[in-house]
Order: sequence, then C-alpha cells, then structure tokens
Amino acid sequence: MEAHIIEWLNLSVRWIHIITGIAWIGASFYFVFLENNLNRTENLRDELAGNLWAIHGGGFYYLEKYKHAPKTIPAHLHWFKWEAYFTWLSGFTLLAIVYYYNAKIYMLNPSVSSISAGQSIGLGIGTLLVSWLVYDLLCKSALVNKKKLFALLGFVLIVAMAYGLTQLISARAAYIHVGAVIGTLMVANVFFVIIPSQKTMVNAAINGETSDPSLGEKALMRSIHNNYLTLPVLFIMISNHFPSTFGHANSWLVLAALILIGVAVRHWFNLKGKGIKNHWLLPLSLMGMVALVYLTKPVSLDDNAGVISDAAVMKMMEIHCQSCHAQQPSSELFATAPKDLMLEDLPSVIKHADIIKAQAVQSQIMPLGNSSQMTPEERIQLGQWLNANSEPMFKGEQ
Ligand code: HEC
Repeated sequence: MEAHIIEWLNLSVRWIHIITGIAWIGASFYFVFLENNLNRTENLRDELAGNLWAIHGGGFYYLEKYKHAPKTIPAHLHWFKWEAYFTWLSGFTLLAIVYYYNAKIYMLNPSVSSISAGQSIGLGIGTLLVSWLVYDLLCKSALVNKKKLFALLGFVLIVAMAYGLTQLISARAAYIHVGAVIGTLMVANVFFVIIPSQKTMVNAAINGETSDPSLGEKALMRSIHNNYLTLPVLFIMISNHFPSTFGHANSWLVLAALILIGVAVRHWFNLKGKGIKNHWLLPLSLMGMVALVYLTKPVSLDDNAGVISDAAVMKMMEIHCQSCHAQQPSSELFATAPKDLMLEDLPSVIKHADIIKAQAVQSQIMPLGNSSQMTPEERIQLGQWLNANSEPMFKGEQ
C-alpha cells in the first residue's frame, strides 16, 4: 500500500514538475525570442527600445519594449517567477520522493562506495548548497567578465562534480544530482539576483529615481547563464530513461559530452537569433551524438562457443536477481517484485530477454546496487545465453 501511495505521489509531483518547468522554460525561450526579434529601428517613439507584431491563436499582438522604466509603473505589471519557484519546489520534492525516500535502492551503489543512505542524502543536499555558493561567488568575482574562461571553468567544475558523485553514489543518482544542481543554480539566479534587481528597478521608478544600470546588467548576465543551461538540464531530467548513458562504465564522461552538445546547440540558436549564421556548431553537435552512439555501443556477445546451461542461468537469477524479482522478494527493500518483473522460471527470463539484456548485460544497472557482486564475465555469459535463447524474431539484430 505504501509503495502504491508513493507511486501516486511520484506521478502527481512529476506531473506538476513538468507543467511548471514547461511554463518557466517556455516563457524564458519566448523572451529570448522577443529580444532577438524586436524591431529596433523603424517608427519607434523615443522611449522605446523596440516593438514587435505577432499573430498567434487567431489574434494579432503588438508589444513594446521600453528603454528604461516607464514614467508610472502600471498597476498590473506581470512578473515571471512562480514558474521557476514551483519548478524547483516540485523538483526537490520529487528528488526526495524518488531518490531520498528510497535512498538504499536509488542512491547507493555498494560497488563504488560504502557510504550509508543518510550520508548519500547529506551528500546530495550538500552538493546543491555548495554548488550555489561557489557559483555565486564566481559570478561576483572579476572572472565573470572573461566569458570564455568562465564558461570553461563552469564546465570543468560540473564535470568534476559528476565524476566525484559517480565515485560515491549510483550513476543514476549522480546524473539526477548534476541536473538538480544546474536547476538549483538557475532558480537561485531568479530568486536571489534577477527578481531582487527587478524589484529595486521598480522601486527606483516609483520614487522617480534612475536605477543603477549595473543591476540590470547583473540580472541579464545570470539570465544568459540560465539560457545556456536549459538544454543540458532538460536532457539530464529525462536521462533515467536511457541506461546506455548513466549505465556506461564512464557515465560521467558521457554526461560531460551531452552537456557540451546541449550548450553548443543552444549557442547556435542564440547566434541564429542575432542573425549570425554559424556553419559548424550543428554538424559538430550531430557528430558528437553519433560518436556517443558508437562509444556507448553494446558489448560484443559474438563468441557463442560455449553458451552456459539453462540451469546455470537460473542459478544466476537466484543469486543476483530473485532477492527482488520474485513473487515474494527476500530483500527487505521490496514487498513485491519491482516493475512486477519476476525472474523465477525459464519462460519469464526468456520472455524478458531484451530488457534483461539492456539492464544487466549492456549496462550494469541491474542487479540494483550490485550487492551480490555480479561480475562482467557473468554478464557476458548471461548475454550470450539470452541471445541463444530469445525468440527468433529478435535474433536478426544480434
Ligand atoms: C535489490 C533489488 C534488485 C535486484 C537484486 C535486481 N533488481 Fe532489477 N529492478 C529493481 C528495481 C527497483 C527496478 C525498477 C527500477 C526503476 O524504477 O527504474 C528494477 C527493474 C528491472 C528491470 C526493468 C523492468 C522494466 O519493466 O523496466 C529489469 C529488466 C531488471 N530489473 C532486471 C534485473 C535482473 C536481470 C537482475 C539480476 C541480474 C535484477 N534486476 C536484480 C530491483 C532489483
């Protein structure tokens, strides 16, 4: 019953998280589009920085951007902040429901370190906090004006964090924490910098003062950082569906490459928005993706010379899988078989050959946490047996 309630909590909060995330990132993409497409030259009143006509949903829209605050601040000024705040709140709740509540299952990997569930949660939350403190400090240092160096340093720090986390917790949890860190930086930028500086700007306008232009510049800089982080963070949030990424032996390197590709594609869009044509960023990103397809390619199972016996496979299931994947799991972590997958007889194992291969042969996600220490040799033996025994219709691809 408890697992059932957690599942529905997971579903509800995830649903909210996606909705608020779309609202937030969508609005942010829309304002980037506005900035890039404002008419800044023709028929503009003096006080305007630009204007724009658009048609959408069967109506014509006309928008104006002011150079400075208007003389009187309108009574209904729309702010964009709740989307970001609720994305973070729902995201953190989800992290707690999925990963922290089941820390033993999802956070730990006894084959990389022996930290406790409590320590792994502390590490996760601590990483979020420390990352913001470090990033904020860097943003306040002179380094921030050296854009390329700043970007390089940021990338190196994120990759170092990804590496460090994969040495302490499960790769899947490491991925999601890198995503949570990036998301946290983005929301904290909104909460601690962008919104406060906008409030100061509004107050200055109300008091008839001109506000310090550096406030706007600081907010803009954080906003640009957020812009570049959007594509990487979106990939990381769906990464747990892709075992070939976090299940790879060098999962942190795969993550680093995907972050680079995301940033490059975002940069291409930003350049395009400014009317600058770039001919190599997209092809290079595509080549990067193709290289990743190759680098994460499944291990070869060609040598079918001595396929092990059915009995040996069932023994393997007993040692490595049935503590969880059984009608009555012996593992204290599960009351029923996870994903309703039971691996107690040959037909079930054969029926699920494909997903077993994905989770236990081509990646090392299963057995979860690998506390039974399944070896690489055993995985290859299992893979060869699955190849030899799965339905003929699947054989073509082997
Ligand atoms: C400690 C418990 C545990 C052990 C041991 C374990 N699993 Fe799992 N398994 C899980 C959990 C939990 C999930 C669900 C993961 C998720 O939510 O994505 C799962 C999911 C799976 C899936 C994906 C099912 C689906 O429908 O997506 C496969 C396949 C799988 N396990 C195979 C195996 C095999 C093969 C072994 C033994 C080599 C094994 N598992 C050992 C806990 C375990």
